[in-house]
Amino acid sequence: MKIYILAVIFFIGLTFTTCSYDLSTPDVCFQEDILPIFISNCTMANCHNSSNGEAFDLTTYDGIMEKVTPKHPQLSEVYTAIAGKNPSMPQGQNKLTALQVNYIKVWIRMGAKNTSNCSICDTTNFSYSGKIQPLLANWCVGCHSGAAAGGGYDFSTYNGVLPAVLNTKLLGSVQHSIGYKPMPKNSELSTCDINAIEKWVNAGAPNN
Ligand code: HEC
Repeated sequence: MKIYILAVIFFIGLTFTTCSYDLSTPDVCFQEDILPIFISNCTMANCHNSSNGEAFDLTTYDGIMEKVTPKHPQLSEVYTAIAGKNPSMPQGQNKLTALQVNYIKVWIRMGAKNTSNCSICDTTNFSYSGKIQPLLANWCVGCHSGAAAGGGYDFSTYNGVLPAVLNTKLLGSVQHSIGYKPMPKNSELSTCDINAIEKWVNAGAPNN
């Protein structure tokens, strides 16, 4: 009987924990997972950045929080604008992926905290497929793909990244070096990410 009751309690507990977030990775990190989605998809020229007076600024935590009610995605405009079958945002071609929308939902449900440095920097991870490609996809490809790719650089493929490696602009721009346009526009990568790009470039930018 005791075991039976324990089992019931266990299953109730299990149901509640699995129902609370509809994503298998509940440890969403603001700086690593959420901010890049906004930077790369919402802050282009004439969109939600600090130099655009009319629209609100989605380049910082404080700016994003103006349209967030912590724990309540349905009361948060940054979520309701991107959710559903015909989301009003982002305008234009690039729609967010279901995973990105879910990340934002889970982050709001968890209290919309300004979390950073959530994962330990793995300094040995700087392969193209393991680190560089996901990093560029997260932070850059929203502005750097298709016909309107920033500066003509399309970072959605390896061959698209190479020209920016060869002319030193990739590294110069993410390091915010003098003479380069600082990237990602409106933001900054973590030291861990910048170091990974540097190591990969110095290793000859292999397609590994
Ligand atoms: C919000 C949009 C946006 C994001 C996000 C963004 N870029 Fe850019 N990028 C641009 C635009 C637009 C240009 C063209 C130059 C300009 O207008 O500043 C550009 C230019 C560049 C250039 C050429 C720089 C130069 O000095 O000529 C490089 C390299 C670059 N971006 C790399 C990146 C990388 C790497 C990321 C991600 C870590 C990134 N960008 C994220 C919009 C963006």
